[in-house]
Amino acid sequence: MKVLVVNGPNLNMLGRRDPSQYGSETLAQIQESVRKRAHELGVEVEIFQSNHEGAIIDYLQKAARDAQGIIINAGAFTHYSYAIRDALADTKLPFIEVHLSDVKAREEFRRKSVFEDIATAVISGHRGKGYIMALEHLAQLLSKKG
Ligand code: DQA
Repeated sequence: MKVLVVNGPNLNMLGRRDPSQYGSETLAQIQESVRKRAHELGVEVEIFQSNHEGAIIDYLQKAARDAQGIIINAGAFTHYSYAIRDALADTKLPFIEVHLSDVKAREEFRRKSVFEDIATAVISGHRGKGYIMALEHLAQLLSKKG
């Protein structure tokens, strides 16, 4: 069982971005926790980050071919990238949208996600732990599918 963990723009700056919204963990620390939990759950994870919309789409097109699920925090692209939405839909894989901050309680433009209606679940406001929650959710869902 393989799950892709995709992070979009500016998430490589975690640890230095506003800790009151995003927590103080770096992306490397979050990724380490995800790898550890994945190992415990017997799930293979492939982790990717890019600041570029096209690179995220290229990655989804290629990597989804041999994966069973996706966890994605597309950063600000969440709010307007129909191209990433289409790429996610084209994978036909279940995906969980994750946000470190509580996007529904922030500025108006962050309250809209162009992915949420096709996502299996949205986990928002749990800082880095949200990725672990998403992984556990997907692992359970995928094990039921068999
Ligand atoms: C974010 C929320 C987005 O609005 C923002 O642009 C980000 C991070 C989050 O994880 O809370 O870059 O996706």
